[in-house]
Amino acid sequence: MDFQDIILSRRSIRRYREGAIDRGDLKKMLEAAMAAPSAVAKDPWFFYAVTNAGVLSTLAGVLPYGKMLKQAAAAVVICGYPQKAYLGETGEPGYMLQDCSAAVENLILSAQALGIGSVWLGVYPNRDRIEGIRELLSVPDNLLPLAVVSLGYPGESLPPRTRYDESLVSWVE
Ligand SMILES: Cc1cc2nc3c(=O)[nH]c(=O)nc-3n(C[C@H](O)[C@H](O)[C@H](O)COP(=O)(O)O)c2cc1C
Repeated sequence: MDFQDIILSRRSIRRYREGAIDRGDLKKMLEAAMAAPSAVAKDPWFFYAVTNAGVLSTLAGVLPYGKMLKQAAAAVVICGYPQKAYLGETGEPGYMLQDCSAAVENLILSAQALGIGSVWLGVYPNRDRIEGIRELLSVPDNLLPLAVVSLGYPGESLPPRTRYDESLVSWVE
């Protein structure tokens, strides 16, 4: 599949078939995440790679729109690391959110290339979700849970698409 096809065929997959994701594939996804652009290469991120079924189930209870985690083979919890982020002239949070979002996108595109379904689940800035994850995974105070990616072999098939809208583009030529 060429790279444009990988991008267009990635859809949020919320139903999974049985099947563990091996650690090698999880590591590839994490390598992709940590290959993302990051302001001044500060890499202000930390990842929890979760494959424990009990923890995945509890995580599903913490995220109101994350019920698919009960069936997921794995999840990656992406945390920001505010003290590492490049602040520029602006102060906290600097570019942490952009850097971590780029990492999440790389991770889910890598999953797609490996034939693994994913869905990005919002955490930050919802206080309850942040604190729920902090408690569940004993996330230290210097990290900030930002997002969860639910992962599993696809149990549903959604058509490739873009939401391209010409009215949202101004060509400056
Ligand atoms: C910041 C963010 C938060 C999201 N949170 C959720 C969520 O809590 N639950 C969920 O099922 N999908 C969530 N999604 C996935 C979106 O619903 C999905 O990407 C969007 O509907 C477009 O569909 P597609 O991913 O299939 O292209 C989230 C996506 C983003 C970027």
